Amino acid sequence: LLVNAVEGSGHRASETLFGLFFEEINHAGAGGIWAELVSNRGFEAGGHHTPSNIDPWSIIGDESSVILSTDSSSCFSNNKIALKMEVLCDTTGSNICPTGGVGTYNPGFWGMNIEQGKTYKVVLHVKSLNSVSISVSFTSSDGSQILATSNIIAAASDVLNWTKVEVMLESQGTNHNSRLQLTTTRKGVIWFDQVSAMPMDTYKGHGFRRELIEMIEGLKPRFLRFPGGCFVEGEWLRNAFRWKETVGPWEERPGHFGDVWMYWTDDGLGYYEFLQLTEDLGALPVWVFNNGISHNDQVATSSVSPFVQEVLDSLEFARGDSNSTWGSVRAAMGHPQPFDLRYVAVGNEDCGKKNYRGNYLKFYDAIKHAYPDIQIISNCDGSSRQLDHPADLYDFHIYTSANNLFSMAHQFDHTSRAGPKAFVSEYAVTGNDAGTGSFLAALAEAGFLIGLERNSDVIGMVSYAPLFVNSNDRRSFQMAGAISNGFCLKALLLWNPDAIVFNSWQQYGTPSFWVQKFFAESSGATVLNTTLTANSTSSLIASAITWQNADDKNNYLRIKIVNFGSNSVSVKISVDGLASNSIDSFGSTKTILASVNLMDENSFQAPNKVVPTESLFEGAGIDMDVVLTPHSFTSFNLLR
Ligand code: AHR
Repeated sequence: LLVNAVEGSGHRASETLFGLFFEEINHAGAGGIWAELVSNRGFEAGGHHTPSNIDPWSIIGDESSVILSTDSSSCFSNNKIALKMEVLCDTTGSNICPTGGVGTYNPGFWGMNIEQGKTYKVVLHVKSLNSVSISVSFTSSDGSQILATSNIIAAASDVLNWTKVEVMLESQGTNHNSRLQLTTTRKGVIWFDQVSAMPMDTYKGHGFRRELIEMIEGLKPRFLRFPGGCFVEGEWLRNAFRWKETVGPWEERPGHFGDVWMYWTDDGLGYYEFLQLTEDLGALPVWVFNNGISHNDQVATSSVSPFVQEVLDSLEFARGDSNSTWGSVRAAMGHPQPFDLRYVAVGNEDCGKKNYRGNYLKFYDAIKHAYPDIQIISNCDGSSRQLDHPADLYDFHIYTSANNLFSMAHQFDHTSRAGPKAFVSEYAVTGNDAGTGSFLAALAEAGFLIGLERNSDVIGMVSYAPLFVNSNDRRSFQMAGAISNGFCLKALLLWNPDAIVFNSWQQYGTPSFWVQKFFAESSGATVLNTTLTANSTSSLIASAITWQNADDKNNYLRIKIVNFGSNSVSVKISVDGLASNSIDSFGSTKTILASVNLMDENSFQAPNKVVPTESLFEGAGIDMDVVLTPHSFTSFNLLR
């Protein structure tokens, strides 16, 4: 392997080369990175109808002691549904309430993780014609173990109108499968609405599950593409992500049913929260907006201007000063300074749909007119032919087998160097090769990423998809069958894997997650020209970068090689352009990702079965003889 490190050779990779794509899929957000513990906190999951779907809220007691129903009496005009709890039993008389009371509980998203010594803020809205005595508790899943409890005692005059109540609960025990209970032993009627329970300890205090976000922080992402994916489009436009309904006070957000991935979200994780998260990660936001096209319906270009205006408003929300109409909404939410929004994508996977080009041009012209610096991403693949419309970047999505993806490392070798750059915004090995996150998939992805890095003169951005899966919500074949056709159906049928798997309290990275770590320093690095001259080149692919580490200010040379074949390969590496004593072999390391079986996966039981191992690399120098084990991904990290 020849590495050309002659001063001035190679090219500079984009500062935003490697980042993340977050989609609200597999409960990645609701019941995932967004730390809200209550599911369906406004009782709105059935839409604005009564009776509404209050699932997963359930009854504590039986019909002789309590009746739960919904009505439209809420004080929140965007989400009128409230829970009505008619308590028939009492502390005295013929119908005595059971010990512990009657009421309702919410198990959250497959159980709430409540931990000893941690504090949780419960907020609820309550109304009653009578005085109330309500216990707010975290308990075990069957209610038998009380972890934390507090009483709300209020005179009728205090709760005659809707009243917001906040309770801080410090847990006396740990239970990963807890529930939130609202109970009473007093006869009467109580209405509840907008019930939230959040841990006080969240990532940077902004409401995200710390341990999940710390995992992605470790990838040093330079951008975050959000909030989808098909989630942005919707099966039908009426169910697409509409940003205005996701900002402002959480109690007033209507929530919506994501009809592609088939679940309700309260939209606590809204447009503002995505922008905040991106900023907290030190990344740049990439806002994918709905362009008037869903999987099954489209707005004609002649009627698309309200959608265009909605997007212009979203840009004002992000970037306008705090006196502007939408900038003031952002400021009121706690962020007077603008967010650094520089990238938008016009839709998702909509190229080729009847109205795409027409709608795209309307968005393009309006955005460029108002914000000339914003980079606009088209859904149309420009890797093998010129786009017929202006764009700063174009989306490229690929989900395929391991062999295919490995061979696609050369996809961009012959792409015109003149047009807009590619944004490989979704890639992954899927299907049989992938399982729920195999080493084989990761190895092929490593090869593909090396190919992208080599071609980063024409590739501006890269992100894996999808990022997170709640292990309780892996999409199933049966459910997919219920959804109409389209690309996402195909993805859904084959869906799996995701980079990070979690449940209420655990998380681990799939091998695909760990592969991305190898590229954490590549954004903005100098990519050197490398040439493989060995015999078995078809199973090998290599790249090399140099960069200066921002922390220790040292210069590094990193050579990455994937051996996709089943034989070990001896490789002589020669670095041209560096003095023979320029590598510090004591400060150099070697990192390998390999595994016993190609289909090995990590799991909650064995989260570190397939993870990179790092060791000192004493053979480091400008001429090195290395042996690449079969099916391995090796990174030689040389200190210069
Ligand atoms: O990443 C999952 C889905 O795959 C995305 O929603 C979509 O863009 C693609 O079809």
